[in-house]
Amino acid sequence: MSTLVVLGTQWGDEGKGKVVHYIANQADYIVRFQGGNNAGHTLIYKDKPFVLHLIPSGILFPKKYCLIANGVVVDPIALKDEIAMLDDNGIAVKDRLFVSQQAHIILPYHKFIDSILEEGNVKIGTTKRGIGPCYCDKVKRIGIRLIDYLEKDVFEDLLEENLKEKNSILKNNGVNVKTLKKGILKDRNKLLKFITPFVADTSLMIENAIRNNKNILFESAQGSLLDLDFGTYPFVTSSNPIAGGVCSGVGIGPTKIASVLGVVKAYVTRVGEGPFASELFDKMGEFLREKGGEYGATTGRPRRCGWFDAVVVRHSVRVSDIKRLVLTKLDCMEDIERIKICVAYKYKGKIYKEFPVSRTVQKYAKPVYEEFPGFKGKVKGVTDFKKLPINAQKYVKRLECLVGAPIDLVSLGRKREETIEVNGSVKWF
Ligand code: IMP
Repeated sequence: MSTLVVLGTQWGDEGKGKVVHYIANQADYIVRFQGGNNAGHTLIYKDKPFVLHLIPSGILFPKKYCLIANGVVVDPIALKDEIAMLDDNGIAVKDRLFVSQQAHIILPYHKFIDSILEEGNVKIGTTKRGIGPCYCDKVKRIGIRLIDYLEKDVFEDLLEENLKEKNSILKNNGVNVKTLKKGILKDRNKLLKFITPFVADTSLMIENAIRNNKNILFESAQGSLLDLDFGTYPFVTSSNPIAGGVCSGVGIGPTKIASVLGVVKAYVTRVGEGPFASELFDKMGEFLREKGGEYGATTGRPRRCGWFDAVVVRHSVRVSDIKRLVLTKLDCMEDIERIKICVAYKYKGKIYKEFPVSRTVQKYAKPVYEEFPGFKGKVKGVTDFKKLPINAQKYVKRLECLVGAPIDLVSLGRKREETIEVNGSVKWF
């Protein structure tokens, strides 16, 4: 058996969808371990773009098992819609997609509360999919799991308790709680038959797969800087997309994780609020946004863009013990005259080489840059690393050195063939 964790090293949208899809042909199981339908993984399959929010990116390969593990929060309606979308495109998921019975479910009041909180004083810029409020209930020990959703009496009791607990926030914001409850019960009745066959003990399935020497890929939904503990708190998501999140998110021990692969974009983007030292507010930022099509796959929001931040990626490499990297979107930088890399931060005369924890330093630190000449040549379409313009090769080598992990794969587009295997073909498992 072998296991591989694939995760994002920045603030998400690094291109994990394409990478997982690229590697998934060597995997038997592809498993999501955190997040929910706040994610948006875009991939090209048979020349068609697909955006997946909840279902692992391996689903487009007909014979792969795809699991949504206990660490994920699941909106049953969103799940049904995504399965229907795949079905409409001729991709059957029956008997190979399974959702953990322990996954907590997102109900409409989580989404209301997410939106209401976003209108308050602390704006995070969430996706408003109800992710944070659902994880909040899990931690408060009042959450509703998929197994509870299937048991009528249990579900009705828990729903009643939850609506009581949230009564004032909902009522004060104009929600008719009785109507809301009726709608939730009606949805459940409609969804029950559909959802039941997908519900499974995914932890046990993974344990059996490991015993049977299967290859298992664990796919994170968000980037490491959105990690609840190691990200730019409080401007983070409500789960742990770092490698440590896999153990509790799927129910396996740490010694079962064989390797960790990080996905890193050649520049940086972020959606939502929060610190971003190398953000560009000028024409260069606009250039990257347009060239890279940097608009949220889930919300359509324009992404904030900036220069590559080696402090951020070095931090991610460390907290997840990343052994190798995939660099994406290098092609989007081909027409730039001069390129910068943020190598440290400076605040009140002090240089920070490690990612700072202080909110003040994160917010006000200025980037310290190294400058490089532009690539001066075509990058798009190249399939051999040595045929890249020499300045592009130097840029890649400098990134490796700054972040402390080798780059095994360079992606120059969404299609599978737009990928360079830097040191020849890679055995991922
Ligand atoms: P939430 O996960 O919807 O609660 O949002 C919390 C923060 O994570 C916000 O800044 C979101 O923009 C960000 N976020 C959540 N999911 C993604 C993603 O898939 N890509 C990029 N940012 C994300």
